[in-house]
Amino acid sequence: MAKIIGGITTSHIPAIGVAMDKGLENDPYYRDLFAIYPPIRQWLNDEKPDIAVLFYNDHGLEMFLDKKPTFAIGCAPEYQNADEGWGIKPIPPVTGETELSWHIVNHLIEHDFDPTVCQEIKVDHGATVPLTLLWPNFAYQGIKVIPISINCERHPMPKPSRSYALGLAIGDAIRCWERDAKVVVLGTGGLSHQLDGQRAGILNAEFDNYCMDKLVSDPEALCVYSNLDLIEKGGAQMVELAMWMAMRGCIKGEVEERLRNYVSPISNTAVGVQLLIPKA
Ligand code: DHB
Ligand code: FE
Repeated sequence: MAKIIGGITTSHIPAIGVAMDKGLENDPYYRDLFAIYPPIRQWLNDEKPDIAVLFYNDHGLEMFLDKKPTFAIGCAPEYQNADEGWGIKPIPPVTGETELSWHIVNHLIEHDFDPTVCQEIKVDHGATVPLTLLWPNFAYQGIKVIPISINCERHPMPKPSRSYALGLAIGDAIRCWERDAKVVVLGTGGLSHQLDGQRAGILNAEFDNYCMDKLVSDPEALCVYSNLDLIEKGGAQMVELAMWMAMRGCIKGEVEERLRNYVSPISNTAVGVQLLIPKA
């Protein structure tokens, strides 16, 4: 049977991808940020997951405001990306895992979630930056990836509690897949940030740390928030917490927090990183 071996949260700020392209990992501005990742890469290298289920949000590369699925699952054998205008170089394609994708889709629909099924889809920085951060030098090509997008761009967006429930259902689906596979779940995006408007640049370290605490000890405590609450507390893009909620739902039950880091700001965003291991 498939097994979820851990969950990782990380930001997807496009500037991080540009910094990697330019070899700026030791630049004073980026040094503390890039220092976070070697222990996580080591954990991935030791554990060798076969599959990464990656929760991300499509910022407009593939799903613009005119067509915005609330939840969408990649069921493709391969995922390309493309220039989005942020200056990040396109990366080689990501390999899919169609059998598990379809198993998740079937399980979800049987359990009253109705995602959009994407048999051909490009992935944006929400997916490519975390993949290149966690598996640099295109080493993500050694694993299979299932990208699952959550609408964080156009209202109405799914409630945090609904993204958590999606994660619970996907976690159950993974655990009942009759293949011996090790699965790591990635919750990308966040934490507090707002990219435009009067409150552009808002950060809220206290609330970010509260979210990271509760993600470990009591994720249901975060289910009380509406998206408007999140926006008030941490800016318009704080709603990207949705992907963290879905990741935590997949793991469910008690977790060990193997690693936590917080660097703020990078570009306009507070970067939170956690590695959570399910307690047997
Ligand atoms: C930034 C953060 C994001 O989450 C994003 O999608 C784009 C840009 C930033 O801080 O620059
Ligand atoms: Fe984003």
